[in-house]
Amino acid sequence: MRYYNLKLAIASDHGGFELKNKIYNYLIEKGYDIKDFGANSKESCDYPIFAKKVANSIINKECDCGILICGTGQGMAICANKTKGIRAVCVSDTYSAKMTKEHNNSNILTLGARVVGEGLAFDIVDIWLKSEFQKGRHQKRIDMLEQ
Ligand code: RB5
Repeated sequence: MRYYNLKLAIASDHGGFELKNKIYNYLIEKGYDIKDFGANSKESCDYPIFAKKVANSIINKECDCGILICGTGQGMAICANKTKGIRAVCVSDTYSAKMTKEHNNSNILTLGARVVGEGLAFDIVDIWLKSEFQKGRHQKRIDMLEQ
C-alpha cells in the first residue's frame, strides 16, 4: 500500500494532547487522511480508552494504521498490544522507526510526549509512515505472533 493512500488514526491522553495536535496538523498539511479519536483537552484522562479506540479502528479496517501519544508512549503500547492483530511499538529514534515497519510491520506507532521533542517526533512519524514492510522471512515471524 502506498503511504499517501493510508487512512490514519491518531489519539492521545492528556499527557500527549499537545503533541498529538501538532502531529495531526503536520500530517493534515502533508495531505494525509487522518481521524482524531481524542483526547479533546488536557484534562486528566485514561490512556487505555484511547489506545483501544485506535486499535479497534485498525482491526475493523476503518483505518490502516495509527499513532498514539501519552507521556511516555509506554502505556499506549502496552494497551494497544492487548488487541489481537495489533503490533504497537514505542519509538524514540529514527532507526527504530524505519526497522519496525520493515521487519515487524508495526501498525501502531506510540510516542512519549515527555520523551521526544516535536522535531524528532515529526521525523519519526515521517519515516515510520514512509517505510514499507519487507515481507519475505519477516512475514513468517509476523504470522508466528498470531499463533
Ligand atoms: C499520565 O501521567 C501518564 O501516566 C501517561 O501519559 C503515560 O505516560 C502512561 O504510560
